[in-house]
Amino acid sequence: MTIEIHVAPDAGAAGRLAAEIIRDALRKDPGLVLGVATGGTPRCTYEELVRSAVDLSSATLFLLDEYVGLDGADPRTCRGTIRAQLTGPLGIDDERINAPDVDAVDLSAACARYEADIDDAGGIALQLLGIGRNGHIGFNEPGSSFESLTRLVQLADTTISDNSRFFGSPADVPTHAVTQGIATVLRAGHLLLLANGASKAEVLSAALTGPTTPDVPASALQLHGHVTVIADAEAAARL
Ligand code: GLP
Repeated sequence: MTIEIHVAPDAGAAGRLAAEIIRDALRKDPGLVLGVATGGTPRCTYEELVRSAVDLSSATLFLLDEYVGLDGADPRTCRGTIRAQLTGPLGIDDERINAPDVDAVDLSAACARYEADIDDAGGIALQLLGIGRNGHIGFNEPGSSFESLTRLVQLADTTISDNSRFFGSPADVPTHAVTQGIATVLRAGHLLLLANGASKAEVLSAALTGPTTPDVPASALQLHGHVTVIADAEAAARL
């Protein structure tokens, strides 16, 4: 197990550090296959990438997850969020963002296709991750198998409650999503986990220093050979 942990003084500094790792990967490979996450945590990273006008024109992006049941044009979709925070300001064509087809009639076939798309792109070289308060990565909620692949999942109540800040009220948060599975995430070459704020301190410690268990999906990261964690001081308080 190789987990490199960086503690930054605050979320802005954490974002700048994460952006530097992404820029470095792009310098080595402009055609980088980059896995992108949404939620509040990566926002500072995307702001810094936009501020520094990073060249993503040859990169390929894969979404970590996507809500089911929203209109495709809804800005609250994960695709809409990445478009608004990252690719749009950088002038990157929407077609460079790969996402599972959550509107497909045959959703399990669409999930299998997403796995195949990742493989066809040569695999995800660098995957950005956040961590849910309940230990989820992507939308792999507690209990998710470490063997899991891209699939339809039901969101946990804590996730619906946490993400209601993006939707106005819990009743407006989709109940389901398609997420890369834990085994999908573990196939990426390099995992970059970001965690900010006191509400992540306990779960970050459980994930990185506790037993590897589906009860804490992010603990699966201990099974990967190349993980970088960037936490702000509050999130790192229990490490
Ligand atoms: C969300 C996403 C995750 C994200 C996590 C933490 O629901 N599916 O990819 O990393 O939960 O979210 P936040 O960064 O807003 O705390």
